[in-house]
Amino acid sequence: MPLITSAEMFKKAYEGQYAVGAFNVNNMEIIQGIVDAAKSEKSPLILQVSAGARKYAKHIYLMKLVEAAVEDTGLPICLHLDHGEDFEICKSCVDGGFTSVMIDGSKHSFEDNIELTRRVVDYAHNKGVVVEAELGKLAGVEDAVKVAAKDATYTDPDQAVEFVERTGVDSLAIAIGTSHGAYKFKGKPELDFARLEKISDLLPNFPLVLHGASTVLPEFVALCNQYGGKIEGAQGVPEEMLLRAGKFGVCKINIDTDLRLAMTASIRQYLAANPGDFDPRQYLRPARQAIQDMVTHKMRNVLNSSNRI
Ligand code: G3H
Ligand code: 13P
Ligand code: ZN
Repeated sequence: MPLITSAEMFKKAYEGQYAVGAFNVNNMEIIQGIVDAAKSEKSPLILQVSAGARKYAKHIYLMKLVEAAVEDTGLPICLHLDHGEDFEICKSCVDGGFTSVMIDGSKHSFEDNIELTRRVVDYAHNKGVVVEAELGKLAGVEDAVKVAAKDATYTDPDQAVEFVERTGVDSLAIAIGTSHGAYKFKGKPELDFARLEKISDLLPNFPLVLHGASTVLPEFVALCNQYGGKIEGAQGVPEEMLLRAGKFGVCKINIDTDLRLAMTASIRQYLAANPGDFDPRQYLRPARQAIQDMVTHKMRNVLNSSNRI
């Protein structure tokens, strides 16, 4: 089975009112943990690669690892570029075998975002690749770019309709209060569901995307801190809010921070208990299992995507 686009996955997710998890990948253990979970959960999935991950691992290594995952598991997998910032990186991923790309023009003006997105859509569609864009601006840290909460802008529903019509984009990431990284809310977590409902009403049958959707489970933060970590003030999006979002056209939920926390907690715990060990396989094996357990938990309790394939 070759890599697939997200088109069919999103259609089913929209109809079934659940979301497909898009998990960020950087290395072999993360990929294996995610796909093993998807296989046993019979869940659709998207593997996504940021510019930083591509720089760290190299495009070719990630590509071959994902191809190996498809062959090994027989799963239909969509390989997606996360937060492509310009036409060139999107083109390079389309040409390099990805089946989906995100052009993130959210830092540009509305008109410039439309122009850039349109250009990527033209190029990608011509090669059978689907495109996600972003309208509105999320707070948080992403690829070393930090957007302060005061600079975040929520997505305007009417602009979203115009944006989708004028760009021909396949899915749209919207800003309704989620943010990247582990520090999402200072006080009570709140998402703008009225805005989401409005966008979803105005864009029927159109897949919406939530970035910055890690739940930052306290037990993983506590585990990191118990074994020498210093993560203070972390707070994620409550699980029930993400489940609710799936009912309003959110078909893709992005998860990176929770995988980082699960993996790091596991490695810290292992090394604390086995200070004499220095074989990477010994601490990466439980770390890979921790990724699998986290992804299984997401598929069952946050995405509602188990038993869909
Ligand atoms: O939204 C960004 C993802 O969490 C990727 O993070 O750019 O540090 O790989 P990264
Ligand atoms: P988190 O930082 O909440 O995991 O979000 C990841 C993300 O949106 C990747 O694009
Ligand atoms: Zn993101």
